[in-house]
Amino acid sequence: MTVLTTERLRLEPMNAAHYEGLRTLNSDPVVMRYITGAAETPEETRAVIERVQGRWQRFGYSWWSFLDRETGELVGAGCIQNLGHDPANPHEIGWRLRQDQWGKGYAIEAARRMARFAFEELDAPLLCAVCDPENAASARVMQKLGMRYKGVETWHEREVSVYQIDRAGWRQGAA
Ligand SMILES: CC(C)(COP(=O)(O)OP(=O)(O)OC[C@H]1O[C@@H](n2cnc3c(N)ncnc32)[C@H](O)[C@@H]1OP(=O)(O)O)[C@@H](O)C(=O)NCCC(=O)NCCS
Repeated sequence: MTVLTTERLRLEPMNAAHYEGLRTLNSDPVVMRYITGAAETPEETRAVIERVQGRWQRFGYSWWSFLDRETGELVGAGCIQNLGHDPANPHEIGWRLRQDQWGKGYAIEAARRMARFAFEELDAPLLCAVCDPENAASARVMQKLGMRYKGVETWHEREVSVYQIDRAGWRQGAA
C-alpha cells in the first residue's frame, strides 16, 4: 500500500486509525452536498474503510486520507479508482476536504501527486474525474490539473460532468 507525500501533506492508504478524522469529514453535509447529497453515518464510515482496504489489497490503489504533515490532522481524502469500480473502465481521480481546510490549495496539491501516481506508477493511459455539474470548485481543480471537459455522462448513478487527461497531456503539463 503506497504512502504518497507532497510539500504539506502525507497521503496514507485509508485505515481504521483514520476513523475519527474520516467521520468528521464525511458527516459534514456541506462536504457531501455534491457527492451523495447526505451526511455519512458512523456505520457507513466504518464500512467505507473496510471496503477501501479490500480494494487496496485487490488493486494496489484506492482511497488515501490526507494528513497535515505538521499536525498529523486528517484534512481530507482522495482516490485513484476506476469509473464504476470496474477495472475495465478508465482510472478516476477524486478528492474532498474538510470545510475548514478549503481555499489553501490542498486539493490541487494532493491531486497532482495522485495523478502522477496513476500515470507513472500504474501506467494509466487516461485519467478521468467526475463531478456534479454545479460543483464549480471541484471542476476548477480538474481544470487546474490540465483536464479537459468531455461532457455529461451517468456514473455512480448520477448525471455528472466528466473531465479527462491522457498520459501525453499529463507529460506536457508536467514538463
Ligand atoms: C472540491 C474541493 C476539494 C476544492 O477544495 P479547495 O481547497 O477549494 O481547492 P484548491 O484550493 O486546491 O483549489 C480550488 C480552486 O477552485 C477555486 N474555487 C474554490 N471554490 C470555488 C467555487 N465555489 N467556484 C469556483 N471556483 C472555486 C479556487 O479559487 C481554486 O482555484 P484558483 O487556484 O484558480 O483560485 C472542496 O471544495 C471540497 O472538499 N468540496 C466538497 C467535496 C467535493 O465536492 N469533492 C469533489 C467531489 S467531485
